[in-house]
Amino acid sequence: MKALVYHGPGNKAWEDVPDATVQEPTDVVVKVETTTICGTDLHILQGDVAAVTDGRILGHEAVGTVTAVGDAVRGFSVGDRVLVPAITKCGRCEYCQRGMPSHCQTVGGIGWIFGHLIDGTQAEYVRVPYADTSLYAVPPEVTDEQAIFLADSLPTGYEVGVLAGNVRPGHTVAVVGAGAVGLSAVLTTGLWGASKVIAIDSNKFRLEKALEFGATDTVEVGPGTVGDVVALTDGLGVDVAIEAVGYPETLLTAASLVRPGGTIANVGVHGTPVELPMQDMWISNVTLTMGLVDTVSIPTLLKMVASGRIPAEKMGTHRFTFDRIDEAYSVFADAAANLALKVVITP
Ligand SMILES: NC(=O)c1ccc[n+]([C@@H]2O[C@H](COP(=O)([O-])OP(=O)(O)OC[C@H]3O[C@@H](n4cnc5c(N)ncnc54)[C@H](O)[C@@H]3O)[C@@H](O)[C@H]2O)c1
Ligand SMILES: [Zn+2]
Ligand SMILES: [Zn+2]
Repeated sequence: MKALVYHGPGNKAWEDVPDATVQEPTDVVVKVETTTICGTDLHILQGDVAAVTDGRILGHEAVGTVTAVGDAVRGFSVGDRVLVPAITKCGRCEYCQRGMPSHCQTVGGIGWIFGHLIDGTQAEYVRVPYADTSLYAVPPEVTDEQAIFLADSLPTGYEVGVLAGNVRPGHTVAVVGAGAVGLSAVLTTGLWGASKVIAIDSNKFRLEKALEFGATDTVEVGPGTVGDVVALTDGLGVDVAIEAVGYPETLLTAASLVRPGGTIANVGVHGTPVELPMQDMWISNVTLTMGLVDTVSIPTLLKMVASGRIPAEKMGTHRFTFDRIDEAYSVFADAAANLALKVVITP
């Protein structure tokens, strides 16, 4: 089979590799019919993720069809259309049992293993461990191009942004960063009845998208960002500020936007320490949340996509076939210039 193989920082190749096979009785093999690229894949290619070594097949998101099942698999059969999520879970360890498979102890102490600790989904076929507890059947009403965004970005914006931020009816919500993750938060905030959703970004195209995704207001980043956002509230700031970029300054912006008693939900992956003004923040009774996505909201999100409440397909802006995967990476790596959000890759 063919797959996209990582060969150290800056190097990858679409090349021949041994076929994916069932290795454990709890495995299945899935023929990948749709995959995508995540910002994390770009970090890996920059050499930022030391656990990813030469020879690893990249990717942690897929929709496809089961082609082989291990002897112990009960819930899936050859021919089933499935969603392969970013997080793999045994279902039995302490973290899986408390609904936090992002820290599944059985699969390696971290639930994100595809394209990280084991071979990933940017390939013609992928081996899926713990298939019964990890895979999701895709309902017939949901297309591949909708389901693919439920593998990672939609559950991330929803779980680590909207749910952790505790968005409630009537709330005013600010989302700093309108990339795929921030827009996923925008898209799912309405489900909790937010009265106002303010998207903040430095990129005009992303802000236009935010309005399409259900934002009520947008603010282009500039010297007056905090004042502009607070002016859209009752003067006290937002109930929930979601950070979806991953820079010190954007977390500080989110912290400046939140009203007393509100929540700052940090979704961004930070690469450097962030100094927070605790001397000003302590008296505001604010909550700061953070974390790795668990993808446990996928069943809920699948139902909302199937019923038409979440137009997940809006996330895909560019389409490529596997033989053009290099081009897909180039477009995604320079997403702003290419007016891209997420790329859809198919055989
Ligand atoms: N916690 C998790 O489990 C998890 C999972 C997936 C991704 N993430 C993280 O979420 C973050 C967002 O991911 P993404 O895929 O949407 O990234 P992205 O690069 O597509 O989007 C980031 C957005 O932030 C905007 N931006 C850049 N600088 C800004 C600034 N100073 N102020 C406001 N906006 C600014 C960009 O224009 C872009 O639209 C990343 O840090 C990613 O690593 C976290
Ligand atoms: Zn990802
Ligand atoms: Zn587990």
